[in-house]
Amino acid sequence: MQATPAISTHPSHEKTAAKALRHQIAAVPHIDALDTARIRETFKRKVPFIIENAQQNPHNVDLAYLEKHHSDLDVTCFNPESRSEHITLGPLLQRIKAGEKYRLRADVFLGRQLGALFQAKYFQKIRNYAFTLMDMILHFFARKKWAVFLSTPSCKMSNHAHINSVFVVQLEGRKTWHLDFRGLEDIEHKDLYPYDFLAEKHPTDELEITLEPGQVLYLPAYWFHYTDTDEVTLSMHYLFAEPMSYYFRPAIRPLFFYELFRRPLGMMKLALARNNEIGFGDKALWQKTKNDSELKFLEQNDYS
Ligand SMILES: [Fe+2]
Repeated sequence: MQATPAISTHPSHEKTAAKALRHQIAAVPHIDALDTARIRETFKRKVPFIIENAQQNPHNVDLAYLEKHHSDLDVTCFNPESRSEHITLGPLLQRIKAGEKYRLRADVFLGRQLGALFQAKYFQKIRNYAFTLMDMILHFFARKKWAVFLSTPSCKMSNHAHINSVFVVQLEGRKTWHLDFRGLEDIEHKDLYPYDFLAEKHPTDELEITLEPGQVLYLPAYWFHYTDTDEVTLSMHYLFAEPMSYYFRPAIRPLFFYELFRRPLGMMKLALARNNEIGFGDKALWQKTKNDSELKFLEQNDYS
């Protein structure tokens, strides 16, 4: 008798489901904030979409706001040499103004400081007030409901996918997102990073959108994504998990089960870590642990 595969229960069914999910939309829908019925319906379909005129930055948080109100905060950034660096926000913003290539990636500490200025309730309403087990871990144990991203021109990042979904509130600058969904067998670097899936970029297969201030992007869990920009951009991200039924969908479950069985501790460590992208982007760390071909892949992506 043949052994049953431990992870994928119906591989061909799941493969077809992954392709169908990706091709459900030919372009990312743009929906006006007033069209709440369409927002709800599209959210239920679990495809990425953009909310226009979202008015989700009522205090006009931007780089000038951070400089005025939070210059003394300590943050961990990635510096021009792709190394993690602890720095105070004021001097960091000065270096960025001088044109230096720095990045804040998923800064949950800064997210906590700014969280009160944003309206989690808006996103909870779109989610129909769902509250998942993973939300409890993310929002209450790890206190990671919000994360701040800051990118400077020419910053690159790897194409990646993770267990949490996100609503992205664009605060300043324009940032281009590349989105894609792919089945487990099409993910080139499943284990290169212990907390996320990494994959090669396939620009002709990706959905491309440029997010501007005033817009909000919904990105469902396990959709691949990377960004690029030629401006200084700032965004606030509301992090959450989908109901368990989402992770058991035929297209999604191979990715979820892969992580659940292959790296349960990595998942828990990521959920509970102080910073969301622990070690991500640190060239020195990668050089200690990765082989030449892996380092080549990472180098193309600024080691992040
Ligand atoms: Fe991400």
